[in-house]
Amino acid sequence: MMGREFASAAARWLHLPEMTVRPEIVALCNRTLDTPRVQWFRRHVPTLRQVTSDYRELLDNPAVEAVYIAVPHHLHAAFYTAALEAGKHLMGEKPFGIDREANADILAAILRHPDCFVRCASQFVFFPAVQRIGKMVEAGAFGQIIEVNAGFLHGSDLNPHKPINWKRIIEYNGAYGVLGDLGPHVCTVPFRAGWVPRNVRAVLSNIVRERPDGRGGVVPCATWDNATLLCEAEDPASGSVFPLTLRTARIAPGQKNNWYIEIYGTRASVRFSLNEANTLQRLEYVPGGEATWQTVHLGHEVAYPSITAEIFQFGVGDAILQMWAAFLYELDRGEGSATHSAALGSPETPGRFAGCATPEESVLWHQLFTAALESQATGTTVVVR
Ligand SMILES: NC(=O)c1ccc[n+]([C@@H]2O[C@H](COP(=O)([O-])OP(=O)(O)OC[C@H]3O[C@@H](n4cnc5c(N)ncnc54)[C@H](O)[C@@H]3O)[C@@H](O)[C@H]2O)c1
Repeated sequence: MMGREFASAAARWLHLPEMTVRPEIVALCNRTLDTPRVQWFRRHVPTLRQVTSDYRELLDNPAVEAVYIAVPHHLHAAFYTAALEAGKHLMGEKPFGIDREANADILAAILRHPDCFVRCASQFVFFPAVQRIGKMVEAGAFGQIIEVNAGFLHGSDLNPHKPINWKRIIEYNGAYGVLGDLGPHVCTVPFRAGWVPRNVRAVLSNIVRERPDGRGGVVPCATWDNATLLCEAEDPASGSVFPLTLRTARIAPGQKNNWYIEIYGTRASVRFSLNEANTLQRLEYVPGGEATWQTVHLGHEVAYPSITAEIFQFGVGDAILQMWAAFLYELDRGEGSATHSAALGSPETPGRFAGCATPEESVLWHQLFTAALESQATGTTVVVR
């Protein structure tokens, strides 16, 4: 699924007139080659010169400078580490290792290969409304943070007849269940803002406990379907401690693919949901004045300029294109070029929230999700470390 999204983004590179670097897909690896998906790549990617079922062959190819690895979670550590040992730049996928130990192995390989540029895919931060929220965080516009709620809600697992797949099997998806699959996306904005949980009380649920196996039988489905994490987080800007609620759900009735964030502060508040992807709800408060929500309609206000008219609406495919622009921008100009100097006030750089998720942020995901599993098992609040 995600490999094809990348191929589509690469094919739409002509949307990005200011990019001085572009991806060319020269090699493809899939465990089986005689599938409609591989045929799709052969048909639509004319630059493809190598197609192999052995990732080691692809990593031996000197024409490959960077790799995007979108495989089931149990393969992350072995594949990412091998890519780094082969000296390739890496765009990995979340959760960047099936568990904390696998994540530590990947981080150790990154330390051994400081010349490799490494990031993790997470596209929702590139929505124009979220970029605006990021600029508000950078400007300290919220005042003292009162409360932050972020989440990612899917609904299709409500159907008990939906067949099982690798994301619903602990061996391939990991013990985190929905947290490993959807949780990293939920963490991206709070963690980039520096709002990292100190502790967590997690309530996880396994609602549908068996599923069709797709071959006429029924098998156990032991992964967590839904997770609600109530955390205490500290705002490094004001020093205030506030409740941060992170929700991930595969069984949220009525939802399809709803990533959302709400930030409530003493001076400003915002609400954004993918269900209204081009709308930002914003409240600016002056002491003694009225607290009134405003609706701001957004079009294509993007971090990496696009030929698309600014009034045209933005979608998930556009966010994936912006995410790849962020990866290549930093790969080309040097680590931190997209994010660091903006923090120092340079108008030319895309901004602190316009960079892909970092390996260091993935370590924080794993600390949080591991603590969440312990919290669920013990029924207690667990310190995140
Ligand atoms: N950024 C996002 O929005 C997003 C969305 C979905 C999935 N993901 C992540 O992307 C990754 C892949 O998920 P997906 O939904 O694309 O899965 P998928 O099942 O659609 O694709 C996984 C691919 O890996 C291949 N594969 C499996 N074992 C292999 C091996 N040994 N050698 C070579 N290829 C092998 C499979 O053949 C398949 O083509 C996961 O880490 C997942 O969490 C990210």
